[in-house]
Amino acid sequence: MTTNKQYNVAVVGATGAVGQKIIQFLEEKPFQVNRIKLLSSKRSAGTKVLFDGKEVTVEEATPNSFEDIDIAFFSAGGAVSKQLAPEAVKSGAIVVDNTSAYRMDKDVPLVVPEVNEEDLKNHEGIIANPNCSTIQMVAALKPLQDAFGISRVIVSTYQAVSGAGLSAQDELTGQTKQYLDGEEMTANILPAGADKKHYPIAFNALPQIDVFEENGYTKEELKMINETKKILHEPELHVAATCVRLPVFTSHSESVYVETKKEDISVKEIRQTLEGGAGLVVEDDPSTQTYPTPLSASGKKEVFVGRIRKDLDANNGFHLWVVSDNLVKGAAWNTVQIAESLVKNNLV
Ligand SMILES: NC(=O)c1ccc[n+]([C@@H]2O[C@H](COP(=O)([O-])OP(=O)(O)OC[C@H]3O[C@@H](n4cnc5c(N)ncnc54)[C@H](OP(=O)(O)O)[C@@H]3O)[C@@H](O)[C@H]2O)c1
Repeated sequence: MTTNKQYNVAVVGATGAVGQKIIQFLEEKPFQVNRIKLLSSKRSAGTKVLFDGKEVTVEEATPNSFEDIDIAFFSAGGAVSKQLAPEAVKSGAIVVDNTSAYRMDKDVPLVVPEVNEEDLKNHEGIIANPNCSTIQMVAALKPLQDAFGISRVIVSTYQAVSGAGLSAQDELTGQTKQYLDGEEMTANILPAGADKKHYPIAFNALPQIDVFEENGYTKEELKMINETKKILHEPELHVAATCVRLPVFTSHSESVYVETKKEDISVKEIRQTLEGGAGLVVEDDPSTQTYPTPLSASGKKEVFVGRIRKDLDANNGFHLWVVSDNLVKGAAWNTVQIAESLVKNNLV
């Protein structure tokens, strides 16, 4: 902390999976909060939420909600951000947006503080928080990019249902009970609430996250591809992604294949480089079966890396297993870290 200034903050989507975590991290005082305004849709307006031991009443988010607000965290879906983030900026707030509404806008920094904090300097009122699966992958790629250069990334994800909100978590619980009671499972949300068909996630694996685009990729896969190039400032980087939803409540796992520009690097060098990476924890020892899992990563702020291997055919190819809590580093913690960086660098 370099300042004693206090900030008025708003959390839009305060009753949601991500919003609740943002509130929890603000209670840890990454910077001083003078006043907090908790906003939701009409449905949850009037709900009481505790912040720092005091009861705060949730209000309906409207264009007039942002007077006197310094920092507004948005995590209520892209449509709400499109409608209300410009209003918040007009009122003088800086918006840190958790949705995909502005991520690929040229003038909007897309930031993981350990990777590209310097991009915050160019903000024009809105800063975007990347997709959860992108955040953990770029955190692991950045030290390798800095040390050796990277030319190709191929990722397959194993993603938790909490990435699709509280209702998807309830769906997994309900379907698990139905299956174990011998009943037919009812599916209304996954793989994508907005799509026509729904499949059970319990005891299943769904190779669809979000809706399909015309080229056969899902929106989630294209987010990983495009956001990675933007955050790493590598428009020419080759990136391919296959995103899969699993019946896991929290934490996304990723099998990441990366090719370095520099040849003849050893696994030892890759491991040492990752061990020095900001926000990274290497858990990698086959002799003791040490590697990260969704359960071991849940609730933690770091990105965990294990199963570090050299490809058996490509001299510059390496395989990594990258796990992180999608609601923590993948969403709320990265969002709060962005605000902390803004405060620290006098950008609010
Ligand atoms: N879950 C993740 O891993 C993750 C990661 C990164 C980004 N995100 C993004 O963050 C956003 C929220 O995700 P979530 O998982 O927290 O969803 P969620 O659990 O379904 O919560 C949605 C929140 O948005 C509020 N809301 C809905 N419609 C609204 C409206 N018209 N005006 C104001 N508030 C409204 C809800 O309020 P009510 O209680 O009134 O319904 C609730 O607080 C999504 O855009 C998602 O893409 C999620």
